[in-house]
Amino acid sequence: MVSIKLHLNGQNIELEIDPRESLLETLRDRLGVVSVKQGCGVGECGACNVLIDGVPTDSCLTLAVWADGKCVRTVEGEVKPEGELSPVQKAYVEAGAVQCGFCTPGLVMTTTAFLENNKNRLTEVTREEIKKAHAGHLCRCTGYEMITEAVELALGRPVKGAGECA
Ligand code: FES
Ligand code: FES
Repeated sequence: MVSIKLHLNGQNIELEIDPRESLLETLRDRLGVVSVKQGCGVGECGACNVLIDGVPTDSCLTLAVWADGKCVRTVEGEVKPEGELSPVQKAYVEAGAVQCGFCTPGLVMTTTAFLENNKNRLTEVTREEIKKAHAGHLCRCTGYEMITEAVELALGRPVKGAGECA
């Protein structure tokens, strides 16, 4: 066992882990951070996505020891203490981009990083940029259009309603 320190969703924590375990296993099995989903387990689906120092990262492919000393963010940390959803989460709900929800926490974190990285040029962001930034995520339910619309909503743009024809 080895000791690591994480800054997880605003809290400093120290814990003992098996050096062979993935960050996904540490988050879910040791810390109860269950928004982080195990889908493919091989870096293909994005369901396990978290932000490490602001960078979207597949936690299934990341050893927990590699995150030692780093800032790890999951969707649990985006909800305000009184339970209010973040602007990105609200945009996903409003756009109808949440169906079964399995892919949603990982996508929300990618969108959050995308907005933070483009905060000085939100009005210039193109649909192609949105799609490229979210290309690492598989969603079996929404057909992706509503996810793109959710990101546009989060950017502050008006979009057509969920299920409405263009
Ligand atoms: S579970 Fe990590 S990318 Fe699919
Ligand atoms: S909402 Fe079901 S997989 Fe995306």
